[in-house]
Amino acid sequence: MNGLTDIKESVRQREYIDRIAGLVRDRGLKYLVVTFGCQMNERDSEKIAGSLEEMGYTKAMEESEADILVYNTCTVRENAAVRLYGRLGVAKSYKEKNKDMLIAICGCLMQEEHAVEKIKKSYPFVDIIFGTHNIFRFPELLYKRLESSESIADIWECGDRIVEDLPVRRKYDFKMGINIMYGCDNFCTYCKVPYVRGRERSRDPKEIIREIESCVEDGVVEVMLLGQNVNSYGKGLDTKTDFPMLLEEVCRIDGLKRVRFMTSHPKDLSDSLIRVIAENPKIARHIHLPLQAGSDRILKAMNRHYTKEDYISLALRIKQEIEDVSLTSDIMVGFPHETESDVDETIDVIERVRYDGAFTFEYSPRKGTPAAEMEQLDKEYVQKNFDRVLKCVQKVSKEQAKRFEGRTMEVLTEGVDEKDPERFTGRLSQNSVVHYPMEGHKVGDMVRVRLDECMGFYYNGHIVD
Ligand code: 5AD
Ligand code: SF4
Repeated sequence: MNGLTDIKESVRQREYIDRIAGLVRDRGLKYLVVTFGCQMNERDSEKIAGSLEEMGYTKAMEESEADILVYNTCTVRENAAVRLYGRLGVAKSYKEKNKDMLIAICGCLMQEEHAVEKIKKSYPFVDIIFGTHNIFRFPELLYKRLESSESIADIWECGDRIVEDLPVRRKYDFKMGINIMYGCDNFCTYCKVPYVRGRERSRDPKEIIREIESCVEDGVVEVMLLGQNVNSYGKGLDTKTDFPMLLEEVCRIDGLKRVRFMTSHPKDLSDSLIRVIAENPKIARHIHLPLQAGSDRILKAMNRHYTKEDYISLALRIKQEIEDVSLTSDIMVGFPHETESDVDETIDVIERVRYDGAFTFEYSPRKGTPAAEMEQLDKEYVQKNFDRVLKCVQKVSKEQAKRFEGRTMEVLTEGVDEKDPERFTGRLSQNSVVHYPMEGHKVGDMVRVRLDECMGFYYNGHIVD
């Protein structure tokens, strides 16, 4: 496997973009892409938006004014699907007012047969359905729909192709996400991702560097390297590049000021990665390290490949080696057979690791995963345990949030403060938000800010020269 992009396919899709541009030109048509789910989906949506802009569509502010509306869906938890169906009900009324309006649905949920069937049956006004493996074919599918006026559903069971080199409309000018790998091979027993995103495949490192360099020339100063499990980057590539090596190469790009990455699986986080982060000030002092659960029994049933003590010793090693690092996590409550004492173990980890923040989820059974076949817990029981975990996370992260008060730290200026046009909003390397008076700087500037006061989950400060 070489991880190189399929150039022939991107040239083909660009031809469809040009053809649609011929149809759309000067008609003042608008688009909107609505994204559910994770940062991977956010990135995919930027790609869909990029193609639409190249075709001549401009971005609508609301769903009701869009001539083409794309829903990029998620299937990690049940509520993402429920929210989609709610939105579709409303979208129907927009379509009744604007007969030429098109509705497309893509993303992880569309890799599930039952969801596609439901949409075809209950929401027949949807024009285009496609999945995660053929997202790059969006221009072709849209062209076919415009030509034939018949609904299209095109879902691929699997896919190992990497098709980049298509237009991208980035949400921010100064920062970007970039896929360094696709798919996941871990098969945690609760998770749908390996089924809907396919096998793990890494992109060629040279292509990654080239893409970042060209965006840096365009004004990007911060990059987020994206993958379901970035720590296993490089497996199966012809080159010998692993994730720490890739990070070092990315850091060498002139003009790039900050490098982030997401997500790390604890089982694959190596000492060499910790060393590279510690030695390299461009790499953010922030590691998102999903715990999921603290009980060894539950971790085993989840197929996570680490124990509670493995996790804690890794987290403490990271904290010791990387000064001022912030640690965040994903934590799940209510996995089959989880007892109160299992949840006590989770709470013990939260208290010992002292997370700066954590997303907490109630376990949601996903059809086709091994855990969905197990006996499920009573909802009320789960709710009680969930509340205990949430309370603990909130307490610890509130205490942690204050820890930089009074210090002067580097802040990347991200934009104008929504509540005060005279102030900027920026972010610490640790990911905390900071507000400060402007003093002649601009978005994308790295400034030194004294963090005068912690306001709960953000700081107020002022620039110091
Ligand atoms: N139910 C609840 N949460 C889940 N996650 C993944 N699958 C499920 C599920 N079936 C959570 C995990 C993961 C995050 C992205 O979503 O905590 O880290
Ligand atoms: Fe899902 Fe586990 Fe893969 Fe993360 S590592 S995407 S939780 S299977």
